[in-house]
Amino acid sequence: MDDNLKIPNHIAFIVDGNGRWATERGLSRSKGHEEGFKNIQVLTAYIFKRGIKYISAYLFSTENFKRSEAEVNFLMNLLTDKLKQILDFCHQENIHVYFSGRRDRLSKKVLMTMEKIEEETAKYKDKYFNICFNYGGHAEIIDATKKIVKDVNSGKLDINLLDEKMYEKYLYHELPPVDLLIRTSGEQRISNFMLWQCSYAEFYFPKTYFPDFHEEEFEEALREYTRRDRRFGGIDYDKKNS
Ligand code: IPE
Ligand code: IPE
Ligand code: MG
Repeated sequence: MDDNLKIPNHIAFIVDGNGRWATERGLSRSKGHEEGFKNIQVLTAYIFKRGIKYISAYLFSTENFKRSEAEVNFLMNLLTDKLKQILDFCHQENIHVYFSGRRDRLSKKVLMTMEKIEEETAKYKDKYFNICFNYGGHAEIIDATKKIVKDVNSGKLDINLLDEKMYEKYLYHELPPVDLLIRTSGEQRISNFMLWQCSYAEFYFPKTYFPDFHEEEFEEALREYTRRDRRFGGIDYDKKNS
């Protein structure tokens, strides 16, 4: 472990490649999702130990409902099937879990599972794990805008006070900006993920499928992040002239 690397405050994962990981081994896509799920636990524990405070993970998009009924059901049931395991893990590691996404189209069972996890982990204040489930970046912006219009119409919000900071209070959760976005499996697109929060994120697209993305692959991501020059639109004149 290299102690001289820059440590981001918020890392977001587009968990991708579970299906290909499995089919290339002659296994069912569900097996790939199982392996991906196992890896999330090991990897998040490591990332938090590395000093990162916020992790977001894209686990089911609003568009993933286009998949077969069997695959959608499998992904939906993962949360409830693994509830005890998830809670034990969060308590052991002191992790506060948020869920981001629309609450429609989810069964009562899934909603109850999400509520239980959020409630039970709300007391933890050091490590935040934001699970994006039935999530879409466009949906998040539309949902925030609707809440804003409602508050403006009822007189609760003065439209002149609406700026970026205020807008963020209307998103699913008020999270710090994403510093590093990692999408596994070699795909180089954002697929409707955290569009607001990724405005100045550094993007990293390793070829590794998610079930094979472990500590060493993560350290390489940190090395790459450390090499990036984050300018946020400005210029470091001293550096340029030296
Ligand atoms: C997991 O990877 C991400 C989810 C949508 C659950 P995929 O299921 O997209 O895997 P690939 O892209 O088919 O390999
Ligand atoms: C994005 O992955 C959604 C999640 C990781 C949950 P997809 O595999 O669904 O994205 P596309 O279809 O390749 O863009
Ligand atoms: Mg995919």
